Amino acid sequence: MSRIAYVNGRYQPLRSAVINVEDRGFQFADGVYEVIAVVDGRCVDLAEHFDRLDCSLAALRIPQPMSRAAFSSVVEETARRNRVGDGLVYMQISRGVARRDHPFPPNAKPTLVVTARRHVLPKGREDFPGVRVVTARDIRWARCDIKSISLLPNVLAKQEALDKGAFDVWMVDGDGLVSEGSSSNAWIIDGRGTVVTRPTGPEILGGITRDRIISLAREDGVEVVERPFTVDDAKAAREAFLTSTTTFLRSVIRIDDAVIGSGEVGTLSQRLLDLYITYARKGIVCR
Ligand code: PDD
Repeated sequence: MSRIAYVNGRYQPLRSAVINVEDRGFQFADGVYEVIAVVDGRCVDLAEHFDRLDCSLAALRIPQPMSRAAFSSVVEETARRNRVGDGLVYMQISRGVARRDHPFPPNAKPTLVVTARRHVLPKGREDFPGVRVVTARDIRWARCDIKSISLLPNVLAKQEALDKGAFDVWMVDGDGLVSEGSSSNAWIIDGRGTVVTRPTGPEILGGITRDRIISLAREDGVEVVERPFTVDDAKAAREAFLTSTTTFLRSVIRIDDAVIGSGEVGTLSQRLLDLYITYARKGIVCR
């Protein structure tokens, strides 16, 4: 089956879809994006992804390409045309096409691309073995809360992790605090059983999965505290995990050379994962 992309108002075969070489996304990484999980043909937390997209667009002063209702239809239709049952929708908006020059072009129209692909999303516990992360300096800019397509530091961090045989990097800021993974949020569970994750702010991307896990945990009576933690806190933690749209929740069983807890997937991490899978499989509306 050939894949279909939505590009500026038209559905077309992905393999022949094109973007102008003077698109500012291509030349300046002047754009934003979202990745949304599709489970059983429905988008998980679509409204929340659109809310975050609105914030990213507003922060960069890129106009909305279309109304939310129309945009939702495009997302659903792209998933449908690609016959995505379980998978991912990717959407990217750039400031548009203009002769290369740094200032915002006065009349550019945002470029909108939506693609969708099947992806075997984690289903049961067996799909979630514990992973190792390595720590590395966070070399990103001061607005990590914007979901910008400028991902070079994240790409370098992920490759560094893979080169070291790890699943991901946990990036560490100048104060020795863990900011987040290359494309995921970082969490620990301290000795008292409190779930800890860094507060939202310019230092991290406020993950949609992160927010969902916080509310599912609290509804289940688990204490969650949003506070920064150090690498030493993480290495001494009872459990650790990371979350994202693509991975859901992965238990972290080693940080650098330190074994976390018993070195196996932790009980509370497992519980939170079970809650999330249940939520993603049935608790969702595509709006
Ligand atoms: N990345 N932090 C960063 C830097 C991310 O890139 C992501 C997601 C997250 C988790 O956010 P969410 O729970 O909303 O997926 C945190 C996506 C999946 C990506 O770039 O592919």
